[in-house]
Amino acid sequence: MSEKVYVLGIESSCDDTAAAVLCNNLVLSNVVAGQKIHESYGGVVPELASRAHQQHIVPVVDTALKQAGIDKGDLNAIAFTQGPGLLGSLLVGASFAKGLANGLGIPALGIHHMQGHILAHFIADANEQSPTFPFLALTISGGHTQIVRVDDYFDMTILGETMDDAIGEAFDKSGKLLQLGYPAGPEMDRRAKLGNPKAFAFTKPTVDGLNFSFSGLKTAILYFIQKETKANPDFIHQNINDICASIQHTIVEIVMDKLLKATAETGIKKIAIGGGVSANSGIREAIKSGEGRFGWTTYIPKFEYTTDNAAMIGICGYLKLQSGLTGSEDQEVSARLKF
Ligand code: KG4
Ligand code: ZN
Repeated sequence: MSEKVYVLGIESSCDDTAAAVLCNNLVLSNVVAGQKIHESYGGVVPELASRAHQQHIVPVVDTALKQAGIDKGDLNAIAFTQGPGLLGSLLVGASFAKGLANGLGIPALGIHHMQGHILAHFIADANEQSPTFPFLALTISGGHTQIVRVDDYFDMTILGETMDDAIGEAFDKSGKLLQLGYPAGPEMDRRAKLGNPKAFAFTKPTVDGLNFSFSGLKTAILYFIQKETKANPDFIHQNINDICASIQHTIVEIVMDKLLKATAETGIKKIAIGGGVSANSGIREAIKSGEGRFGWTTYIPKFEYTTDNAAMIGICGYLKLQSGLTGSEDQEVSARLKF
């Protein structure tokens, strides 16, 4: 294999069609086409998502190759998201990747989406320094909430995960009750900065071990809003920033409790975060503050590598090739793909 390895990454697990070109661990292009269509439905509509992926995939890949300044004939492999995600959406990216790889006579490499979020830390310009093994990864997004022990690139163990809603859903669903639009996470974050985090108290779930649960919190918030708006129809409007700050504060505390437990149980004090919710300022600040308070080393990658993107899929492809994993294993997409 030549010294320079060019990998095209393709990500289509949810509502973003993304393509990226990497030369070894260096990102040459990183293109994401979002899908505005879901906003008016207050959530991702799977059937519309796969249709939009079909419209976007060719121009997005084309743009990624052009921006990288290479021809598809220069590629050494194509990495695609194999799962988990929406089946119809995954199929669009996977079929395209396999067809193109076949035509070019190069390997197609199926990548686990959550491993992508974790291995994004090994992109050349993701962090000042990449984490060293072993480390703990906190992957928090609209679809997932996991604490993973990472012993090597492809040696990961899930220590805890959500039993019901993902953390992003906790933000989005409670934000929906507050009419914050979709997805509500960023707006909740913005308003939380203007409010009092101790204004209202919400009961935190009691879940054993390192697992999470967020559906109870959502219900508690629903009942709280119903009760308060019955007494004062203008309650939300008058208290929106305090409500957002209090919800965010509760979610941050849930995350910090589990991280403290995970670091105590494993003795590992290196924490790498990933997934769209890691953009949350409250979560970032709390985890970062653990450096002084608990002696943690924290790794927070560049924003464009934390939300869904294809560079994280590309880096996994590159690391797979380096590890001698050439794509001969099962490549079928799966909505519930395991590690
Ligand atoms: O990783 P991502 O882009 O896509 C999924 O794989 O889900 O994450 C999207 C999620 C949404 O739930 C969105 O509300 C949330 O990330 N999010 C945030 C913030 N920015 C994005 N949640 C809280 N605070 C933010 N600043
Ligand atoms: Zn994701």
